[in-house]
Amino acid sequence: MLPSTWVISALCTTTFSAPTFPSSVVGRPVVREVLSEYFQIVGEKVQAERNMAQAPLCNMNTAMMPASPITLPPPSAGLTLKHVAIGRGTQNYSCGANETATPVALGAVATLYNASCVASTYPDLLSMLPKVALQFNLTDIDQVTLLPFNLAISGHHYFANLTTPTFNLDTAAMDLGFAPCVRNNSVTAPVGASVGQDDEGFGPVPWLKLLTRNGATGGLKEVYRVNVAGGRSPATCVGMPTTFKVQYAAEYWFYES
Ligand SMILES: *[C@@H]1O[C@H](CO)[C@@H](O)[C@H](O)[C@H]1NC(C)=O
Ligand SMILES: *[C@@H]1O[C@H](CO)[C@@H](O)[C@H](O)[C@H]1NC(C)=O
Ligand SMILES: *[C@@H]1O[C@H](CO)[C@@H](O)[C@H](O)[C@H]1NC(C)=O
Ligand SMILES: *[C@@H]1O[C@H](CO)[C@@H](O)[C@H](O)[C@H]1NC(C)=O
Ligand SMILES: *[C@@H]1O[C@H](CO)[C@@H](O)[C@H](O)[C@H]1NC(C)=O
Ligand SMILES: *[C@@H]1O[C@H](CO)[C@@H](O)[C@H](O)[C@H]1NC(C)=O
Repeated sequence: MLPSTWVISALCTTTFSAPTFPSSVVGRPVVREVLSEYFQIVGEKVQAERNMAQAPLCNMNTAMMPASPITLPPPSAGLTLKHVAIGRGTQNYSCGANETATPVALGAVATLYNASCVASTYPDLLSMLPKVALQFNLTDIDQVTLLPFNLAISGHHYFANLTTPTFNLDTAAMDLGFAPCVRNNSVTAPVGASVGQDDEGFGPVPWLKLLTRNGATGGLKEVYRVNVAGGRSPATCVGMPTTFKVQYAAEYWFYES
């Protein structure tokens, strides 16, 4: 691979030509601002890489999970980082007849995109990805790569039942494992996190630490959801339908034994 090929191919094939964003997005100021900041940083990376003798290595040992002011417990001793993904999907909720009640969380559905290399090499770019990815509707996003970042799908996230968030990281490209999980710890997302699409929404869902359940494969032991953008429901069921979805994006960090 030629120097800087990966960052260009992995992040920004569109940087030096006009990106073709969906017309629904182009006129929206919040999106324009978020994207222009993102592409400016990508452009700086590409320039920097052009002056390097070789492209930076994607060394997972150097990747550092983002910390929040109220911290989650660290990964258990002896575990190593296996994969970092950007999750883009929805949090699902239900409401009954009681309009003053809080919506009930039904779980989440998300597509996971391979961000391991970005995590190890460009943490500042990684930290922007959930906020930027949130601005695109799933239907706007290519089925195979998360545009405009060109991140390949590395798996899918769903709930097997109400208490079993599940990650299927076995794809045609690579079998990283299957991880039915149980929630272990939860902290409120830091102030300043993206509240929702177009900066409208009810805020980010919490950061989480999950432990894998029996049946996990690929050595997967612990999963973190961090740097969350959006996903929270309104405080009450006033005006809400029986079931509804709230768009979200997040970083998922997978640890193996
Ligand atoms: C509706 O929900 C609110 C908030 O949870 C609760 O205080 C109230 O008792 C509920 N009303 C009925 C009729 O269940
Ligand atoms: C959430 O909504 C999606 C899309 O409608 C649906 O496919 C999924 O089954 C729902 N998941 C849950 C846990 O309700
Ligand atoms: C996403 O879809 C919703 C509902 O169709 C629409 O209101 C919203 O404008 C769309 N957002 C973007 C970023 O295209
Ligand atoms: C993720 O991307 C890296 C390099 O960008 C690659 O080495 C790795 O195989 C990919 N993993 C998956 C699951 O696609
Ligand atoms: C949900 O699935 C887990 C894992 O299979 C199981 O241990 C748990 O009992 C299930 N919970 C319910 C309420 O069915
Ligand atoms: C979280 O996991 C640790 C072990 O890793 C366990 O000691 C603790 O009880 C768990 N806490 C919750 C709330 O599940």
